[in-house]
Amino acid sequence: MKKKIKLFDPVVGNEEEITLKKILRSGFWASGAGTGKVSEFEKKFSKYTGSKFCVAVNSGTAALHLALSLMDIKNKEVIIPSLSFVSTAHAVVYNGGKPVFVDVDPKTLCIDPELIKKSITKKTRVILPVHFGGMPCNLHEIQHICKKNNLSLVEDAAHASGTSYKNKKIGSHANAVCFSFHPVKNLAMPTGGAITLNGKDSDIFNSILKSDRWCGISNRQGSKYDVTSLGWNYYMNEFSAAIGIEQLKKLDRMNSERKKIVKRYSKELQIDSKMPFNKDCSYHLYWIQITNREKFRKMMTKNGIETGIHYFPIHQMKYYKSKSKLPITEKVGKNIVSLPIHPNLHESDVNKIINLTNKFTK
Ligand SMILES: Cc1ncc(COP(=O)(O)O)c(C=O)c1O
Repeated sequence: MKKKIKLFDPVVGNEEEITLKKILRSGFWASGAGTGKVSEFEKKFSKYTGSKFCVAVNSGTAALHLALSLMDIKNKEVIIPSLSFVSTAHAVVYNGGKPVFVDVDPKTLCIDPELIKKSITKKTRVILPVHFGGMPCNLHEIQHICKKNNLSLVEDAAHASGTSYKNKKIGSHANAVCFSFHPVKNLAMPTGGAITLNGKDSDIFNSILKSDRWCGISNRQGSKYDVTSLGWNYYMNEFSAAIGIEQLKKLDRMNSERKKIVKRYSKELQIDSKMPFNKDCSYHLYWIQITNREKFRKMMTKNGIETGIHYFPIHQMKYYKSKSKLPITEKVGKNIVSLPIHPNLHESDVNKIINLTNKFTK
């Protein structure tokens, strides 16, 4: 039987197997005193991103929840795109805030800074952009808006491990930047996430988050400790961290493999609406927009090619049912399709994806 062409596929080598075996045998699987992989990962990811601190947690959702817990958003508004995974909005609600959905730029599908300006009210506290598919948002403009209106900036960089903006890695710009290391992400773990911290309060934020990620436990001395806040059970385990360390070593190489594929997609796909090429993008996703999406996806499935939909807009979900009018997001939500993008794709896979897509859209 012919092998399916997968939409996402983590790159796994002997390195991951060897390190996992060591952790398994060590008997220390949680973080803390064990094999020290969690703190090793934090140091390495902080160095890689050029950030002051890194706090490793057990998902991107936990990273967003914790980062926003620093911002005092109870009964306040947080500006977010609706075109994202639902955790971007949930993290606001977990903290008692109100998500305010804003439309995206049709070229990049990142939140539109001009529309952010129009959505700011007296209740706005935070702007939370998503680097969609790994495409860097216009951080220069968003930082300017934050400064002018005395707002905090928290980035959702779940797609952006390895993305750069103005020659600096994502993770080094805002006071708090949230990453996901879900198995489909560019830096894959069984489950994991991180918050990188910068700016003048990063010292304090680092110690608050390192306590809050494990039930508010602090001042540990041997088996003695105190509990200084409520906290959550969000710590990263040693297996995830050990895989993450190996994945981080090859992240830039894996991302350049993705970019080689995107160069071909953006040159050879004969379709008007497709993700543009940008050398700074990590290309977690590669999107096209197509009318007749279901017919297209069925044809691809029949030919052994997985596709995906990222995303159905959050403001149209039953739980949120917001009255926001977001014409671009709503149109994109109907037409967007993700094509396979990962370093395990062979040249013949890419040929097949391009040929079938072009034949369908002709
Ligand atoms: C944009 C975005 N934000 C947040 C998350 C949540 O990350 P996790 O699945 O690691 O909780 C995801 C995960 O898919 C995501 O795509």
